Amino acid sequence: MRVEELKQHLILHAQQTTQEYTRLFHGRGNTYGAYPFLTLDSVDTVLFAVLFDHDDAEDALIAMLNDLYTQEKKWEAFILQRRYLPSSPSTLLAGSLPPQTYAIEKGLKYHVAFQNAQNIGFFPDMKIGREFVACHAQGKNVLNLFAYTCAFSVVALHAGATSVVNVDMNKNVLSLGRENHRLNGIETTNVQFMPYNILTSWSRIRKAGPYDLIIIDPPSFQKGSFAATHDYVKIIRRLHELAAQECIVLSALNAPELGSDFIKTLFQENVPEFGYVKRLENLASFPDIEEERGLKNLVFIKKNHYPSLQQHPFV
Ligand SMILES: C[S@@+](CC[C@H](N)C(=O)[O-])C[C@H]1O[C@@H](n2cnc3c(N)ncnc32)[C@H](O)[C@@H]1O
Repeated sequence: MRVEELKQHLILHAQQTTQEYTRLFHGRGNTYGAYPFLTLDSVDTVLFAVLFDHDDAEDALIAMLNDLYTQEKKWEAFILQRRYLPSSPSTLLAGSLPPQTYAIEKGLKYHVAFQNAQNIGFFPDMKIGREFVACHAQGKNVLNLFAYTCAFSVVALHAGATSVVNVDMNKNVLSLGRENHRLNGIETTNVQFMPYNILTSWSRIRKAGPYDLIIIDPPSFQKGSFAATHDYVKIIRRLHELAAQECIVLSALNAPELGSDFIKTLFQENVPEFGYVKRLENLASFPDIEEERGLKNLVFIKKNHYPSLQQHPFV
C-alpha cells in the first residue's frame, strides 16, 4: 500500500466517522502489508496519528495525513505522537486543540489528554470488553482490577451495577476515573477508588466483596509493578476468596507473546471451579494477522452452582 493508496483508504473510512472514537487505520495488526508502525484515530474533533517506529518516508506520510485533515474538514486539530522517541512526544501539526476533547463511545464520554506520554486515557480496542460488561453488570457488585481511568466502572454503573470497586496503584489515573463518572452524571456513592498495589492489598479488596463480576485487565509488563508471565497467576489464585457464587470473570491480556492458552491454563490449574466460556471477538477495526497476538478477552464463570456448564445462560 503506497501513500496515495493509503489516502484513498482513509478518505473512505473518514466519511463514516461521527464524534464517536473511530480507528481509521490499524497498521499494528500487519493486515495491510504496509505501515505497520501507524495507527490513525478520529477522536471527537481531533485527528490523532501515532507512529510506533521511524520510517524513512515519514515526511511524505505526514504530508498526506495533513492533506487529509485539510480536505476532509472534519476535525479541529491534527496531532501526531511519535511513540518511538523517548517520552513519546505529541505535536500539534494543524488546527488548534479544543479546550475539551473526549473519547465518546455509545454516548458515554471519557477525558483524553493527548500530551500524555503513550496512552491518552482511553483504550479504544477494549470496546468489546466494555460492551460485555454493559450486558452483564446490572444488579452486580463489580471488581475492576487495574482500573486505569475507570472506563469499565462508568459502563457498569451506567448499565445498572449496584456497586463498583476500582483498584489501580496510580492515584492520578484514578482521579481521572472519578472525573469520568462525574462527566457522565454517574453517582459515586457506591463506587470505591482504591489507589493500591493489587498484589499487596488483597485484604482490603476482599473486604468489599464478594464480587459478582470481576474484571482483570493488567498491563503485559510494567517495570516494578506487574509482569504477566509471573504475576497474572497471583491474581487468579485469589479469585476463590473474591468471587460470589455465580461470579463472572472477564480476564484480559494484551501481550503478543502470550496467547489465550496462557490464561486458560492458569484458570485450569489454579481455580478449576471456574469454567471457560468464550473469547470475545476483537473489533473489525483492529484486525490482526495473527489473532492470538492481539488483545485477548476471555470469559469464565464460577461453575460450582451449575451441575453442567452447558446449563449456564451464557453457553
Ligand atoms: C492496561 S491499563 C488498564 C486499562 C483499563 N482496564 C481500561 O479499561 O482502561 C493497566 C493499569 O494497571 C495499573 N497497574 C499496573 N500494575 C499494577 C499493580 N501491581 N497494582 C495496581 N495497579 C497496577 C497501571 O497503573 C495502569 O493504570
